[in-house]
Amino acid sequence: MITPEPYRIVAKDALSSTVARFVVRAPLVAAKAKAGQFVMLRASDAGERVPVTLVDWDATVGTVTVIVQAVGKTTTEILTLPLGGEFLTLAGPLGVPVELKRWGTVVCVGGGVGIAEVLPIAKAFKDAGNRVVSVLGARTKDLLILEREMRGLSEEVLVTTDDGSHGKKGLVTDALSELHARGAAMDAAFVIGPIPMMRFVAELTRPWGLPTFASLNPIMVDATGMCGGCRVVVGGKSKFACVDGPMFDAHAVDFPLLQTRAAAYRAQEQEALERWNKTHTCKLDQH
Ligand SMILES: Cc1cc2nc3c(=O)[nH]c(=O)nc-3n(C[C@H](O)[C@H](O)[C@H](O)COP(=O)(O)OP(=O)(O)OC[C@H]3O[C@@H](n4cnc5c(N)ncnc54)[C@H](O)[C@@H]3O)c2cc1C
Ligand code: FES
Repeated sequence: MITPEPYRIVAKDALSSTVARFVVRAPLVAAKAKAGQFVMLRASDAGERVPVTLVDWDATVGTVTVIVQAVGKTTTEILTLPLGGEFLTLAGPLGVPVELKRWGTVVCVGGGVGIAEVLPIAKAFKDAGNRVVSVLGARTKDLLILEREMRGLSEEVLVTTDDGSHGKKGLVTDALSELHARGAAMDAAFVIGPIPMMRFVAELTRPWGLPTFASLNPIMVDATGMCGGCRVVVGGKSKFACVDGPMFDAHAVDFPLLQTRAAAYRAQEQEALERWNKTHTCKLDQH
């Protein structure tokens, strides 16, 4: 029987007060990973499986990079894993890789931790010979991650913050409208972030006829297409985001349904986080 090597954390750094980057040993995943795919992580025996995007991978040294934002109990627990520690499981690569083609100019829109998820897509489209223009948004300057990395890949970067603490005050949709108003070249848009953000971007680009794709983040349980937890409706048809996505034509997505289903367990999620916070002292700054 082959016993897999431990998923050892070989590098960890904080990108903001709630977001950390982990480089993890996972040679089999690194050998197969493609842009747009994700892995299911488990921090401990009692922990839930959490889907997170493959941000980077290195098949030569056998590592993958993931970026995790603490939003609830399990992601908060993940952020406490120290350098040198291990993930209990890291399953993948999962999901359909993004279809790489020469669009011309690809606009990559990332909101919050969605910037981490759009980074590998921006890199893959650039490597495929496209011009990349990026639009990055966050609530405040402290929560804006990976700006330097996105600037390194992009011909132009527009930054917005809700409070105006960095870039222009406003939303990513304001920056996209600015690009459109000045007639900037845009041949396709890829958007990843909170569900309302993706929904408003889709509504904005629909009348422009701009092909727009969104990476959907429904609740996932098994990520094998069997439990139905990640069911979304796209173009009137049911799809499972874990095996049919997570990237879909944003103009065809039923966003109100996605929003309702994603909020289905909010009370239980809140309760689980409160219980975790009561029983664990915060040690985030010690790792
Ligand atoms: C394909 C995909 C890629 C993702 N990539 C990243 C990433 O790179 N970095 C990152 O920080 N987050 C990513 N997420 C979101 C991440 O999976 C959730 O934030 C995480 O599961 C929340 O777990 P929790 O127990 O900490 O929070 P909970 O208390 O369970 O929930 C908090 C919020 O997270 C949502 N959520 C809960 N469980 C899941 C689940 N299993 N799947 C999806 N959403 C869930 C809930 O709707 C809720 O809004 C991704 C989600 C998907 C589907
Ligand atoms: S997570 Fe179970 S079907 Fe997709």
